[in-house]
Amino acid sequence: MREDSAKYYYSSIQYANWMIKIAPSILSADFSRLGDEIRRLEHAGADWIHVDVMDGNFVPNITIGPVVVGQARKCSSIPFDVHLMVLNPEKYLEAFAEAGSDIITLHIEATDDVRPALRRIRSLGKRAGLTLNPDTAFERVEPHMGDIDLLLVMSVYPGFAGQEFIPEVLSKIREARDYVDANKLDVEIEVDGGINSKTGKMAVEAGATVLAAGSALFNCPDLRKEIADWHKFA
Ligand code: DX5
Ligand code: ZN
Repeated sequence: MREDSAKYYYSSIQYANWMIKIAPSILSADFSRLGDEIRRLEHAGADWIHVDVMDGNFVPNITIGPVVVGQARKCSSIPFDVHLMVLNPEKYLEAFAEAGSDIITLHIEATDDVRPALRRIRSLGKRAGLTLNPDTAFERVEPHMGDIDLLLVMSVYPGFAGQEFIPEVLSKIREARDYVDANKLDVEIEVDGGINSKTGKMAVEAGATVLAAGSALFNCPDLRKEIADWHKFA
């Protein structure tokens, strides 16, 4: 390999390794104009659309189901990152897969059948995600790291947008990053809850590669610039 092409090769690998993805959460969108909101996110440079599904049982709030995901899916071609905050998520995997989800993430605290549920997501042709609450230790998810494409580290207790980032989760992100790198796994590490330009940078420095955010992105004056700035955290 010539020296300049080698340089290009290695710099493109580094670029791929360090590229940060931004996943705006539509929980903070104006639901009366959901299609326009999703198109606006995509045009502003969002990488994924983060969809918060809440059942009123696992979390106190109720949000959206597969019918809305299916309709929203028609408005955009970027991946839908569907975060299931529901008890017994295994009951709903087919419905969310058929609705057009690309990544389906379940909570380790929400089911006793984590392994079969993750396998089912992959057998439906989707990427499998696993998430954990702020007070759940990394050790709980460690046995499943080989079965997932995404680890979502919650930096607030799930249920509502607009909460404060819990800084204690940064050490869990570092632990997850060390594990993924040591075992050469192809697993994205996403962080979700209270992410803004300050906490997002801290999470990326700890090893996160995907930032899910609601309020900070929907309340900022220039969404395109904000997303472009966050892309440079790496
Ligand atoms: C919390 C949700 C988050 C939340 C993010 O239960 O999973 O995705 O909507 O919203 P902000 O960024 O406002 O904390
Ligand atoms: Zn979420």
